[in-house]
Amino acid sequence: MEGAREMIRTGLAVAVLAFAATALVAQSDPIAARKALMKANGDQNKVATEMLEGKRPFNVDEAKKVLATFAEAGEKAPALFPDDSKTGGDTAALPAIWENKADFQAKLAKFAQESKAASNATNDLDSFKIQITEVRKNCGGCHQTYRKRTS
Ligand code: HEC
Repeated sequence: MEGAREMIRTGLAVAVLAFAATALVAQSDPIAARKALMKANGDQNKVATEMLEGKRPFNVDEAKKVLATFAEAGEKAPALFPDDSKTGGDTAALPAIWENKADFQAKLAKFAQESKAASNATNDLDSFKIQITEVRKNCGGCHQTYRKRTS
């Protein structure tokens, strides 16, 4: 009993610490934090492509996870472009972000909103295909203006 309680307490402490560490990283290194969010978008986007191409069986939970990852990025990214993060950390963010901050933030909000709506509207491969095709327009639509071409 005592041991179980101790384990729960330790587990909670670890969870709280992990949460605090994440918040701290976002604060102290917003460039790394936003790159990590975007990298997750890229990874999940590949999962989506594999499902659309039949290289991976369609799974509604995985499909919704793709869209939840996009929504999370759209929700968390606005806080990760403070004025002192225009350069450094190997960032591919363009100065245009800070010159058109309102438009950039609006694009992130739209991305989050559409990803959530797309998740609600996804229940099979056909609906996922339609939804993700629309949502993906947000990626290029933003990168074109606000992200340095890397290749
Ligand atoms: C509203 C703007 C916006 C939207 C929408 C957006 N991105 Fe990005 N993305 C960026 C910016 C800005 C960067 C560069 C961040 C940096 O280097 O600091 C980036 C970087 C990336 C990277 C490189 C990450 C790395 O490892 O450095 C990937 C991959 C990526 N985005 C994928 C996606 C995908 C996939 C979507 C759509 C599902 C998407 N992004 C939607 C703005 C956006």
